[in-house]
Amino acid sequence: MEVLPDRNARYRDAQYWDERYTREESFEWFGDFSKFQHLLVQHVGTEESILMLGCGNSSLTWDMYQTGFSFITSVDFSSVCVETMAQRHPHHPGLSWLCMDVRRLAFPDGVFDVVVEKGTLDAMLVEETDPWNISYSGRKEVHQVLSEVSRVLTPGGRFISVTFAQPHFRKRLYARTEYGWSVKHYHYGDSFHYFLYVLTKGEELNPEDAALERRILTETDAPPTVMAVQEVENEDFLNSIDL
Ligand SMILES: C[S@@+](CC[C@H](N)C(=O)[O-])C[C@H]1O[C@@H](n2cnc3c(N)ncnc32)[C@H](O)[C@@H]1O
Repeated sequence: MEVLPDRNARYRDAQYWDERYTREESFEWFGDFSKFQHLLVQHVGTEESILMLGCGNSSLTWDMYQTGFSFITSVDFSSVCVETMAQRHPHHPGLSWLCMDVRRLAFPDGVFDVVVEKGTLDAMLVEETDPWNISYSGRKEVHQVLSEVSRVLTPGGRFISVTFAQPHFRKRLYARTEYGWSVKHYHYGDSFHYFLYVLTKGEELNPEDAALERRILTETDAPPTVMAVQEVENEDFLNSIDL
């Protein structure tokens, strides 16, 4: 079944995902829950309220629910996705599925203990070609999402970001004092490493990340770019960027 877009830019387009989700039953980006469960359980309590950003047709929400995580709100801007997932998992009071753009979360401040995303920010950054120099529009989009995430987190809440983006690239976006969180990262996977970032609201950046932030805010010249091209799954956008 052909679900790949004709050009990478379409990964940023809700219509592409709507079309894809009418044909594709399930796809798991960067591995299923079992691959990083050992990391996630260290940072998320089963009775905490969890927001899943860009849930797609992944089984992550359901797998977490089955493991005991009782309150998960999953959002995606694909209405097809949200309707399908709601029909797939009816009658579970702790689960809800909402059509929503993650750049504009329709929730009050400080209502989620944990926000999780897996591959959603990567999809939004799909047109970037130089990981050291994210475009203004790319930075703006990510900033919109991170600001919203920070806003809806409770004090002490955690943002869990699962991605293929290596720390030297992704920390440049996450290590910002204005979000009011610390940044830690872990990796999982065998032949190819994926990364799980834990950003804890109410903690300060460590000195290294604070220095990184200062450097980024003042730097004028981009460091040399060495694009490490590694083949991941069969989604070719992953090969064109290394964020
Ligand atoms: C790469 S897929 C990841 C899906 C799922 N999280 C997983 O792990 O398999 C990206 C998902 O993010 C959704 N998405 C992309 N941009 C979005 C936005 N601005 N608001 C809400 N959802 C978005 C897409 O519809 C898609 O379902």
